[in-house]
Amino acid sequence: MKVLAISGSLRPDSYNTKLLRAAEELLPPEVDFVLYQGVKAVPPYDEEDDLQVVPMSVAALRSAIGEADAVLFATPEYNASIPGSLKNALDWISRPLATNTLRNKPVAVVGASTGAFGAVWAQADLRKVLAAIGARVVEGEVAVGHAPTRFDETTGRLEDESLREQLQETVDALLAEVEARALVPA
Ligand SMILES: Cc1cc2nc3c(=O)[nH]c(=O)nc-3n(C[C@H](O)[C@H](O)[C@H](O)COP(=O)(O)O)c2cc1C
Repeated sequence: MKVLAISGSLRPDSYNTKLLRAAEELLPPEVDFVLYQGVKAVPPYDEEDDLQVVPMSVAALRSAIGEADAVLFATPEYNASIPGSLKNALDWISRPLATNTLRNKPVAVVGASTGAFGAVWAQADLRKVLAAIGARVVEGEVAVGHAPTRFDETTGRLEDESLREQLQETVDALLAEVEARALVPA
């Protein structure tokens, strides 16, 4: 089984990317975890460009999602919503609507912010957009508030036990959704 991880932050030291790495630690060893690194290269969405041969960065993103059994997103909150770069990437992924590579794909959303609330509004918006695209959004929220205090500075480990438990539950729900879908006849 392959889980693709997409961070909504482009920063090298992103707490959201650290959160995805923390999730990787909680996966069973047989699960292949891939952190997608190409969101920054995705150009602004242009419907005209989408009618032509799409940019390589877009084709690569669509195919990485197509090859994954599940996708785990971690999003920061920018001005009470999803970062523009992540929304832009999702707009590219969403086309063509009927056959986009996120359609029926099990996905989960977690998030971290430097403020108290752990990007809960951005997570809610991201879940809404993912559902509109046709993804199977699993239950579970992990809201890492005050992110600079939550990760070990050297190892990047998520130190808060209760947040680790919530992250484990979310990851387990994501894998369970993949397994449940595998049992559904095509
Ligand atoms: C443009 C911008 C807008 C922000 N807006 C919010 C916000 O609405 N709510 C919030 O909790 N944090 C907000 N923040 C702070 C982010 O939570 C913080 O920068 C966080 O570390 C970003 O995640 P990252 O570490 O994964 O890059 C904002 C940061 C930026 C740069």
